[in-house]
Amino acid sequence: MKGIILAGGAGSRLHPLTKVTSKQLLPVYDKPMIYYPMETLIEGGIKEILVISDPHNIGNFVRLLGSGKDFGIKISYEVQDKPEGIAQAFIIGENFIGDDNVTLILGDNLFVGDGDFLRDAIMTFNSGGRVFAKQVKDPNRYGVVEFDSKKNVISIEEKPANPKSDFAVTGLYIYDNSVVTKAKNLKPSARGELEITDINNLYLKAGNLDVKIYENYWLDTGTFDSLLEAGNKIYQLRKK
Ligand code: TTP
Repeated sequence: MKGIILAGGAGSRLHPLTKVTSKQLLPVYDKPMIYYPMETLIEGGIKEILVISDPHNIGNFVRLLGSGKDFGIKISYEVQDKPEGIAQAFIIGENFIGDDNVTLILGDNLFVGDGDFLRDAIMTFNSGGRVFAKQVKDPNRYGVVEFDSKKNVISIEEKPANPKSDFAVTGLYIYDNSVVTKAKNLKPSARGELEITDINNLYLKAGNLDVKIYENYWLDTGTFDSLLEAGNKIYQLRKK
């Protein structure tokens, strides 16, 4: 299993904090944000990680994380020239992924306090796709899972105006090697991005998307409030 951390993007909701630096380098209490998704991958037993960021910030990630030796892993780096979608990570990462399976985590996603659940989910993965859904107050910001009456997943809709549930797909995605070909065959969406939701729907249609409900603490730190909330949450955990 290889790991990718996607740490580019515009970060426009956090301006001016992100005007001269990357969102994923901002502090979450006592560490730069990217440490948290990186630790999630490391806890999942992943030893080779690719960090993808934009041309302006990639050098800072190299300065911060280096070869990965200090963390007991090997880190490589690639540039995403423009934020053309989350699914582009598999095209940029094609050589890095090689013939392996891959776990992608978004650099601004914090999964806190349930290492065992995610570790098992990564370590027991065999084939298809596996994603994690979490009940949220604002599902229309995310990919939203639609269930039938028997709680089977029937579709995932990207940022729907009228969400069919309040279960959002979180920013941790585990796929078999076919994700590279799937990503290469995607067409950009109306907003000009290669959508991770389209990848998930391809696996779903083929009958091999495993949607696990994530019960623990998860936060996408893309807004001022969620960034502050994440810092406070880590502070509370450290002080316990
Ligand atoms: P978003 O939070 O959707 O976008 P953003 O970070 O550009 O922020 P904003 O909406 O405020 O402008 O992205 C989710 C994560 O994925 C975030 O860590 C950035 C990353 N990302 C990329 O690295 N490249 C991309 O092409 C996209 C779409 C996102």
